[in-house]
Amino acid sequence: MIIGSISENKNFESRVAITPDIINKYKSLGLDINLSRNYATHLGIKDDDYKNAGANILTSDEEVIRNSNALLQMSILANENLDKLKENQSLIGVLNPYSNEKKLREIVSKNINCFSLELLPRITRAQSMDILSSQANLAGYKAVVDSFAYFQKAIPMMMTAAGTISAARVLVVGAGVAGLQAIATAKRMGAIVFATDVRLASKEQVESLGGKFLIVEGAENLETEGGYAKETSEEFKKKQEELLKETLKKIDIVICTALIPGKRAPIIIKKDMIDVMQSGSIIYDLAASQGGNSELTKVNEICDSDGVKIMGEANILNKLPVSASNLFAKNMFNFVKNLYDKDKKIFEINLEDEIIKETMVK
Ligand code: NAI
Repeated sequence: MIIGSISENKNFESRVAITPDIINKYKSLGLDINLSRNYATHLGIKDDDYKNAGANILTSDEEVIRNSNALLQMSILANENLDKLKENQSLIGVLNPYSNEKKLREIVSKNINCFSLELLPRITRAQSMDILSSQANLAGYKAVVDSFAYFQKAIPMMMTAAGTISAARVLVVGAGVAGLQAIATAKRMGAIVFATDVRLASKEQVESLGGKFLIVEGAENLETEGGYAKETSEEFKKKQEELLKETLKKIDIVICTALIPGKRAPIIIKKDMIDVMQSGSIIYDLAASQGGNSELTKVNEICDSDGVKIMGEANILNKLPVSASNLFAKNMFNFVKNLYDKDKKIFEINLEDEIIKETMVK
């Protein structure tokens, strides 16, 4: 069996699905690797690095597609390459099945097996494959580093002969994977950190990282069985607004990470709340591509509202593509390892396996 991967559209995606250090692992499973020329040169990884690790470098994307049993990609292939896929080939990646429903239906009807890794169940056995966690963790870290770099004041408290600088105050909205990493990173850099979430389970996690959890008075726990957030009631929204409006007067940097799966991101920071913030403060919105947690967020823009800067980041992982690719490639390998039957030398599509069943696009 041969695994292939072709260059992504670099206008949108800098990450790659296969890194040189993972090739050895594929080889030890008995899988060969085909990559297209200049696969990751934009990341400083040369074709020779892949060749030395045991991969084959082919001259064109078409050759890779033609000569591979499965294609591993970050995102869905461009239409002209989708058309080149043949029966019984597999396509594995972040295929975005909700936005790409029509395209995926067409290729699935040609008996091409599509697996979309954002559909992985959040179960213990799938943790090593969990691309949402590995990438969100890096996003939370980078959001803090980016917003701190943009902020015009120092972050930690400093007592000097020239006077004292007080520590910056950070609010993290949404304490899931990205939010928890944002809290840890901001704490390490000396900020005073507050956080809020609708899932009460996150209170203990926030506190264990040294953050102060802001709890909406009298709120019920808004957590689904799968561990995700539920949509909030109007009453909850009102109480959360009052709590945050008071808090925001003294906050320097807000990191927004709140999401509800399959829905537009909740608008939590309204215009009148931004109005109470001090000029020079920053709202860094990681939820921008899902509509944003702040009312004034614009994708890939920095908006100014009376001195408050609102930064809407759409694909932050393109800002640390090497680390993101390294983790993604490991997630992908663990997924393929679970799918591949080493003895029969085939991809065993066992729909009794929750991981395979949930990720397979039907
Ligand atoms: P996410 O990316 O869907 O959402 C981010 C955070 O925003 C969540 O904590 C959510 O509760 C919060 N949120 C949503 N609406 C909000 C609102 N109106 N106000 C404030 N906060 C709001 O979540 P993520 O990071 O993917 O984590 C979701 C769950 O999955 C968590 O319970 C996490 O512990 C769990 N998880 C389990 C894993 C496993 O067992 N394999 C791996 C990773 C995460």
